[in-house]
Amino acid sequence: KEAKLWGGRFEESVTETVEKFTESISFDKALYKHDIMGSRAHASMLARQGLISESDADGILRGLGEIERQIDNGEFVWRTDREDVHMNIEAALTDLVGEAAKKLHTARSRNDQVCTDLRLWCRDALDFILSRIRHLQVALVKLALKNEGLIVPGYTHLQRAQPVLLQHLLLAYVEQLERDASRLLDCRERINFCPLGACALAGTGLPIDRFMTSDALGFTAPMRNSIDAVSDRDFVLEFLSANSITAIHLSRLGEEWVLWASEEFGFLTPCDSVSTGSSIMPQKKNPDPMELVRGKSARVVGDLVSLLVLCKGLPHAYNRDLQEDKEPVFDSIKTILGMLEVSAEFAQNITFNKERIQNALPAGHLDATTLADYLVKKGMPFRTSHDIVGRCVALCVSSNCQLQELSLEKLRSISPVFDEDVYEFLGVENSVKKFTSYGSTGSECVSEQLNYWVNKLGIN
Ligand code: ARG
Repeated sequence: KEAKLWGGRFEESVTETVEKFTESISFDKALYKHDIMGSRAHASMLARQGLISESDADGILRGLGEIERQIDNGEFVWRTDREDVHMNIEAALTDLVGEAAKKLHTARSRNDQVCTDLRLWCRDALDFILSRIRHLQVALVKLALKNEGLIVPGYTHLQRAQPVLLQHLLLAYVEQLERDASRLLDCRERINFCPLGACALAGTGLPIDRFMTSDALGFTAPMRNSIDAVSDRDFVLEFLSANSITAIHLSRLGEEWVLWASEEFGFLTPCDSVSTGSSIMPQKKNPDPMELVRGKSARVVGDLVSLLVLCKGLPHAYNRDLQEDKEPVFDSIKTILGMLEVSAEFAQNITFNKERIQNALPAGHLDATTLADYLVKKGMPFRTSHDIVGRCVALCVSSNCQLQELSLEKLRSISPVFDEDVYEFLGVENSVKKFTSYGSTGSECVSEQLNYWVNKLGIN
């Protein structure tokens, strides 16, 4: 059996049960690139500070290059008895370059090493998520461009409310994703500080240069407090919180599209390429990708909750519990990326059913609020106009017709304020035209929004 890197004071080796229970190599090998990146920066700094010789540093850097190549090519053998990614790489480096490798861990602990790796990893993951958010925004804007002028029922309480342009609804999702992106960018600022050199918790008496490693790794600055540096995982909590909010946005989008794809709504049809069938019912074509977007949001929220609970009782500074931070982080990122990608693909492969939507529009008196505004324009207090239009609606309900089908006489029997021009306000097309407030569903306002996104996202 190989001696542990920390084995000096031990007389017995750990049991197999303990070894299996405490290992993290099975999942933290995902950090290898960033671990090697950190080691390169650390070795170069040690040499410049005279803590190791230039030739030791050269040996270390050469060895790290070889190890990275082996891992990239799947030739590297990961060993459970070497516990985690840090010790696997350090031990392999020693096998490869001998004595020089034993100097790499000078003024470093796995405690500062692991959170340096994780910060670097998260920074890259975050940048990738941002690019996928942009990609989905582009898909939604393009979908909006394809559906100019299409009016759909807008809902509140899932009951018919007011007519809106479909473009307006699609751009609402784009806005939400924009805030998701800005939350990530904000979180990135705080991720980007360097714990390396905090060592176990107290720093070191050796003359290291933390500013040099921080710079080399592209961090804003070294973290000011070594205890804080190794003990907090708030940067991942924040990252997973941001992911959770994105996941909830996508889940709502998923719910809406699943609903709209139903026979009852029939507002959209997904292409076969983004649908799946049933093993028993031959006729079925299900919108599974979006159902799973809705379903997988649970994992993302669960990952955040796992991590919150993990951190809640930890005394300062490092505790081994923190090894449990990685799997939720990896899972959250992998899941949110899948959700973003499949949502974009779905958006590229659906058609809105104009006829079904148009046939559905007359129901639900979507123009009632516009009619109330008409009376306001004639000088009536809104509360009174609300009441009058309510009575018009009641008349429609009892005679099973739409507001625009009420004759002027009938309207006037409810209020003498109604005039010939009232019909310019009735029906969904007329109704939508009346919206002019900033951010409203009126076609000019919506095309302004659309132009904004086309320019911002560089769509041509
Ligand atoms: N695998 C450990 C982790 O993920 C690395 C740090 C271990 N530190 C220690 N003192 N045992 O947190």
